[in-house]
Amino acid sequence: MIKVSPSILSADFVNLERDIRALTPDGADYVHIDVMDGNFVPNITIGIPVVAAIRKITALPLDVHLMIDRPVRYVERFCQAGADILTVHTEADTEENTLEALRKIRACGVTPAVCVKPKTPAEAVLPYLSLCGLVLVMTVEPGFGGQSFMADMMPKVAKLRAYIEAQNPACELEVDGGVNAETAKVCVAAGANVLVAGSAFFKAPDKPAFVRALKG
Ligand code: DX5
Ligand code: ZN
Repeated sequence: MIKVSPSILSADFVNLERDIRALTPDGADYVHIDVMDGNFVPNITIGIPVVAAIRKITALPLDVHLMIDRPVRYVERFCQAGADILTVHTEADTEENTLEALRKIRACGVTPAVCVKPKTPAEAVLPYLSLCGLVLVMTVEPGFGGQSFMADMMPKVAKLRAYIEAQNPACELEVDGGVNAETAKVCVAAGANVLVAGSAFFKAPDKPAFVRALKG
């Protein structure tokens, strides 16, 4: 089954409660929350108190994407704030510290996940795959919504699908960046089963229809 995880980076922050409450009737499976620290990426967005506030107004799983340096310092606090899936970048710390972050996330009862930026190869996920419940492939450079989809990431998605089938078949494979009704088809064909959509989702005049189109 294909799942859709709308990225609230493209929501109306003045009306965040309204936009998040609408995600359930719109047919979303997860709420994608982009956390940026101004160091790992050149943008600053949402932090721990906002995740905790969102937790109070939706029953949907919170799919929290940490674009922060050395996330091991903060993962337990994001778990306590209400994350259901917590994603750290392979590029954000040493292998040892990334493993520690994933173990801490799992010890909190939250699904651990790793993410790779466009220039990072599929193999960078391998040291972590057995610990993960989700792998996220960036299909834009992280930092901003509304960028163009990088179709050249599809061989990496296919490679990760093969690694997942061989080593951890319960693991989900998510794509993030530039996903719309057309590019979603390419992602699903390559093996993705969770689709993040920010600008395309929030611009869609008929969101339930957009979600159905993404699910194919
Ligand atoms: C970018 C974020 C994405 C972003 C996607 O760094 O990780 O989740 O919100 O936005 P769109 O779907 O507009 O590319
Ligand atoms: Zn994201």
